[in-house]
Amino acid sequence: MLEHDVIIIGGGLAGCQAALAIKKENPHLDVAVVAKTHPIRSHSVAAQGGIAASLQNVDSDDSWEAHAFDTVKGSDYLADQDAVEILTKEAPNVIIELEHLGVLFSRLEDGRIAQRAFGGHSHKRACYAADKTGHAILHELVNNLRRNQVQIYDEWYVMQLILEENEAKGVVMYRIEDGHLEVVRAKVVMCATGGYGRVFNTTSNDFACTGDGLAMTAASGLPLEDMEFVQFHPTGLYPIGVLISEAVRGEGAYLRNSEGERFMARYAPNQMELAPRDITSRSITLEIRAGRGIHPDGSAGGPFVHLDLTHMGKETIMSRVPFCWEEAHRLINIDAVIQPMPVRPTAHYCMGGIPVNTEGRVRVDGTSLTEGFFAAGECACVSVHGGNRLGSNSLLECVVYGRIVGEAIAQYVKTRSYPQFDAQSYLTSAEQKIQSLRNQKGSIRIAALRQQFQDCMSEHCGVFRSESVMREGLERLQTLKDEYNNIYLDDQGTCWNTELLEALELKNIMIVGEMILTSALNRQESRGAHSREDFPNRNDSQFLQHTLAYYTDGGIKINYMPVVINRFEPKERKY
Ligand code: FUM
Repeated sequence: MLEHDVIIIGGGLAGCQAALAIKKENPHLDVAVVAKTHPIRSHSVAAQGGIAASLQNVDSDDSWEAHAFDTVKGSDYLADQDAVEILTKEAPNVIIELEHLGVLFSRLEDGRIAQRAFGGHSHKRACYAADKTGHAILHELVNNLRRNQVQIYDEWYVMQLILEENEAKGVVMYRIEDGHLEVVRAKVVMCATGGYGRVFNTTSNDFACTGDGLAMTAASGLPLEDMEFVQFHPTGLYPIGVLISEAVRGEGAYLRNSEGERFMARYAPNQMELAPRDITSRSITLEIRAGRGIHPDGSAGGPFVHLDLTHMGKETIMSRVPFCWEEAHRLINIDAVIQPMPVRPTAHYCMGGIPVNTEGRVRVDGTSLTEGFFAAGECACVSVHGGNRLGSNSLLECVVYGRIVGEAIAQYVKTRSYPQFDAQSYLTSAEQKIQSLRNQKGSIRIAALRQQFQDCMSEHCGVFRSESVMREGLERLQTLKDEYNNIYLDDQGTCWNTELLEALELKNIMIVGEMILTSALNRQESRGAHSREDFPNRNDSQFLQHTLAYYTDGGIKINYMPVVINRFEPKERKY
């Protein structure tokens, strides 16, 4: 059995930042990061447009209070305001720390860090590195992991969280290269596994975003919070769904329908293309439903709208959003300097997740804490995004809370000794799980079942939802879950068996999908990204609460817990 003081699952921004913070607090602690891809290929690398902080480099009247208000309003008042205050107050400090670490931010003429506009923000506060901001930050953090002697298990897949009697004790992990299994004992387990975009058939997320940490946590009996809040980014490139950054609109691009009209004037007359994502995605969907979408041949009634950059000029496009230009050019042969890009909403971000306090300690319910278990980043729900995240606040959450959680772990671990458990029984059960998948003599290919599941989630729990559609979705999902016992593996080998990995991931996205659908069905109101056609209004008297969903043998059980409101009273949201 392997042992580490701290094992961090996930090599993205939150995991790397936490590992570095722990080492900074106490270089003698033995810290390991385990990741199913190399950390440099974690999905954080794909973050494009920026990271928010009220540095005041461009807008001198910005402040952390303004950033906090925008975040809470953007969340449709479901964010916990104590957590938002920490996020927005700490933001300028973490940007300076990142700069000192060597992150190559884009610059103003005078050499200070450049800042741009982003949806739902009242000031230009998104710091950026062209449209490769995640790439710029992640590379520096990963370089520093090595310098600080953090052990990296790259291309290992964590199959199980070892949690007994409300205490996290370690993990079971599988080496993808050769199928070797290991049990790791740890004083602290931290989950930083990111999101679950692959629950849906069209997503901006990497293939690796299968919600493994969320599913593992739920399967251990802990609740997941606010899982109904799924962010659909307005501008996924049609038809693939990859991200075309909001920075493109921040730099001045327009959204147009089949009539050439800038239709956002109808839905958000003040903020126009820079309305928050929930509103912009709904607006695009409504235009398409009304027959004002566009077909690939240019005629009306099609499945996308246009993102028009043609008035911005080559120089601005190539210096500010070169990667987005390249994506459209390489993937669909569109030259955005002279042609509009076809776009439509794409599943992008998970506002909910593992319920944590502001130090990243996992909460079983509203109050009691799980020993030895922490979480940060997209898989965690602290909750700074509530019902709808503002663009450029997710990288920020990863670096602010990654650091805070790392510092908290370094303190917490001082009083912990290695936990006791029967490692052999976990190893045996992991071996049996793999063997039984190998032995299955079913007739359904994994990819076919996954596609049916993703179609089911996209059709039954998308931008707009209703009770009858979601109930049908849950019925379909039940059938698909049964079909899981009918999959088969062509590859019986141990060397780089990605088919086996996909079977394990499919189980996880199905758990996450059921949590999303059930939480969404129970929230009978519209708030943020959760838009019910049968309950079109926000209902604060009943639902100004966080959902807690428990995955149990008898089905999913739903509970609620209060929202922290200590500064901004809920109001109607207008943009
Ligand atoms: O549009 C974007 O560049 C995405 C940013 C984000 O999700 O924060």
